[in-house]
Amino acid sequence: MADWWDADGRRHRKQFANSAAAKEHEHRETALAHAERASREMKLAARTSGVKRSSPKTDSATMEPAKGKLGVMIPGMGAVATTFVAGVEAIRKGLAKPIGSLTQMGTVRLGKRTDGRSPKVKEFVPLAGLDDLVFTGWDIFEDNMYDAATNAGVLDYRLLEQLKPFLSSIKPRAAVFDHNYVKKIDGPNVKKGKSKMDLAEQLRQDMRDFKKTSGASRLITMWCGSTESYIEPTEAHQSVKSFEKALRENDEMIAPSMIYAYASLMEGVPFANGAPNLTVDLPVMLELSRKNEAPICGKDFKTGQTLMKTVLAPAFKARLLGLSGWYSTNILGNRDGEVLDDPGSFKTKEESKLGVLEHILQPALYPELYGNIFHKVRINYYPPRGDNKEGWDNIDIFGWLGYPMQIKVDFLCRDSILAAPIVLDLVLFLDLAKRCSELKGLGIQEWLSFYFKSPMTVPGLYPEHDLFIQLMKLKNTLRHLKGEELITHLGLEYYD
Ligand SMILES: NC(=O)c1ccc[n+]([C@@H]2O[C@H](COP(=O)([O-])OP(=O)(O)OC[C@H]3O[C@@H](n4cnc5c(N)ncnc54)[C@H](O)[C@@H]3O)[C@@H](O)[C@H]2O)c1
Repeated sequence: MADWWDADGRRHRKQFANSAAAKEHEHRETALAHAERASREMKLAARTSGVKRSSPKTDSATMEPAKGKLGVMIPGMGAVATTFVAGVEAIRKGLAKPIGSLTQMGTVRLGKRTDGRSPKVKEFVPLAGLDDLVFTGWDIFEDNMYDAATNAGVLDYRLLEQLKPFLSSIKPRAAVFDHNYVKKIDGPNVKKGKSKMDLAEQLRQDMRDFKKTSGASRLITMWCGSTESYIEPTEAHQSVKSFEKALRENDEMIAPSMIYAYASLMEGVPFANGAPNLTVDLPVMLELSRKNEAPICGKDFKTGQTLMKTVLAPAFKARLLGLSGWYSTNILGNRDGEVLDDPGSFKTKEESKLGVLEHILQPALYPELYGNIFHKVRINYYPPRGDNKEGWDNIDIFGWLGYPMQIKVDFLCRDSILAAPIVLDLVLFLDLAKRCSELKGLGIQEWLSFYFKSPMTVPGLYPEHDLFIQLMKLKNTLRHLKGEELITHLGLEYYD
């Protein structure tokens, strides 16, 4: 007989062959009891603090299958929208490949590195198929999608000719537009209404009509309209009640994009914002999104220069290289470039582009390295380049003992070619969120930060801008939803 004490200090008596066996038993029991107690305490802490446990708890049963057609509604049928829709049709016809799309070409590693399980994203979670997508949109110009794509000059005319019957059949609905918010353009295809509430009602009717005529079982709204002038939230944006009062009273602080967002969320339809406008970044929209289970996400597609910035800045921080200045300039000649030539629209874009470095580099934590950065962003309208933007970055960094170095990036990109796969992924993932019991009531879908220059988060939480953290967050969300183990990259288990 020998005594042993457990982790809670209780004494036990048991028969052992010898004292070594007794000692070993005590060790094992103590370790077990410690583990059990830690687990109990963590569960209790999670319950009392409202924090959800990170281990998997749901499975695919909580995601409804993607049955029927998915209607994609696009305010703003310009370069990005037409490149996206034409691209989907070209892929459906087998004329091109969905390059750049995580939902179409990406994979998710599951389990250990040695397991060899890496299904395609679209086979892992129940996404709508490309054949099920149907489209509509609104624009201030009357051009159908074929004419708009031709004007945008992004895609080769030989490809557009093959898609002409399909693209010509998509005609823009009359837009809700206010010239004061986009000073550089004006067009004839604009709705008239007694009040902004009346305009919102007309948009809601458009949405219901489209659902009926297209036979779509679900809808998504994707803002691909021009960048609106910079404004800050006011009292009118603080609640559904105050917003609806402001709509009825034609409050000038309600921008057209907000009217689309309101109409969409009232219809229970998820909304994504490709531009940097305030639009859904408002308490009223969060309230509506949660109430009507219509997911929302960030704003301003992360395509060219900011994509590079959120790849390079994390590398400097990882190696603790200092940064003294980052000068970014762009030339572009499409309609977006023309709109951004207006100081009001540019200010909206500038705010969105400037935010990323501060959040990635955390100057408060690393004052000697990032406490004094000169960060400048310029956008210059230069018509000869059309949609083929050129983005230059001059980056002044410093290393060991403060010695300075420079990096130059010259990205000759194609704006809409980079944006189109982002639109596709957002359409499919937002539709998934709407069908997923765990996500649909959350409002903000932070796991979609990967696609945005300005990701949305709950108030008080700083956004993640590092592209690779964003990708890990997205893939871990998918793993979590499917009840798969999250990947932490710890890897000690391989050396047991
Ligand atoms: N292409 C990219 O890489 C990229 C990246 C991030 C953000 N964006 C943003 O995406 C948006 C679209 O870019 P684009 O290159 O297609 O621009 P674009 O000028 O070719 O198209 C925008 C369209 O929106 C229309 N429009 C403006 N206000 C409208 C309204 N109230 N209702 C309906 N239609 C309206 C315009 O008439 C135009 O046809 C822009 O705001 C741009 O800043 C683009």
